Amino acid sequence: MSMHIGILTAGGDSPGLNATIRGIGKSAISRYDMQVTGFLDGFRGLMENRSIHLDGVALSGILTIGGTILGTSRDKPHKMRVGGKVMDMTEVIVQNYHRHHLDALVCIGGGGTQKNAYHLSKQDINIITLPKTIDNDVYGTDITFGFDTTLSIAVDAVDRLHSTAHSHHRIIIVEIMGHNTGWLTLGAGVSGGADVILIPEIPYDIDIIANSVLQRERAGKHFSIIAVAEGAISKESAQKISILEKRINNAANDPEKRKKLKNELKEYMSVAIGDTMQLARELEQLTRVESRVTILGHLQRGGIPSASDRLLATRLGTACTEFLQQEKYGIMVAARSDGVEAVPLADIVGKRKTVPLDHPWIESARSVGTCMGDIL
Ligand code: F6P
Repeated sequence: MSMHIGILTAGGDSPGLNATIRGIGKSAISRYDMQVTGFLDGFRGLMENRSIHLDGVALSGILTIGGTILGTSRDKPHKMRVGGKVMDMTEVIVQNYHRHHLDALVCIGGGGTQKNAYHLSKQDINIITLPKTIDNDVYGTDITFGFDTTLSIAVDAVDRLHSTAHSHHRIIIVEIMGHNTGWLTLGAGVSGGADVILIPEIPYDIDIIANSVLQRERAGKHFSIIAVAEGAISKESAQKISILEKRINNAANDPEKRKKLKNELKEYMSVAIGDTMQLARELEQLTRVESRVTILGHLQRGGIPSASDRLLATRLGTACTEFLQQEKYGIMVAARSDGVEAVPLADIVGKRKTVPLDHPWIESARSVGTCMGDIL
């Protein structure tokens, strides 16, 4: 009997998702005669029994399309809003998996999806995951699909902003996605020649940024491009967050106090992180150089995937089928150099791949005179 596999896409959409679905589906059908079912809108579709049959026709013509033909959501199996209430729907999901007579479920997603899939894999479900996200922050894989396309979009924006910043003698701050990591901003900043690059991994000093702009002014360069990650943070805010985190740890035996401190931290982080407009106002005051902000937002996630993302997605997707055929479960199909590797979900869950402070991209940025917000 041939296998019956389910596929779902979860978390934020990302270029290359359809290329991955196609890679898994086409190889599963043509090489092993598997039956392939796609569940709609992430884990919610599996919970609500909403699915489509993925045959040759459904899988045709989707390689170059952005987004995901299956739809996606950020729903978690153990915390799902159902009829106005947040409920643990894990049991229903497990039942539906068996009702569909699935042999395995493929979950395509980022860090959150890896975690959700890991918890499901501890139930009576065979799971394989693939690493998708524009943020490139999934632990255990060299790279995630979606990152390359988004990087090109962000670089294109930095390139275009140069001429207008130069013409108006302005500071232009371009805010780039990436959640709590700086891969996209660093990559786009280095490739686009940003004058200042601010990433969450390196808390910034506003006076140092202002001085770097003024130094450029004195050198006859009357404009500056600042690439800022949406998760970038000032030195002062980083210090306050670390103090609050310590207090939370120290309150381990006092659940009430711990809850209060956690709420305080959450509230503080929501105002202290990602206020790019405020950053612009402060820099304008300190430098007297007119400043503008461009927030790239979801523009970065849309459109056709790059050749590199299509290649990666197809490589990981077809490798996934081989792991399914070998019944190798509880793993993520990771990109390793030119090949692939099966990484146990237990090894990656709860971890995030941040930019190491000695990463060559940071070294290169500093070498060409880019200010990283910490030293002039
Ligand atoms: O994880 C991908 C991502 O685009 C992040 O870069 C960003 O912080 C987040 O998703 C935005 O989420 P949403 O699409 O739910 O607004």
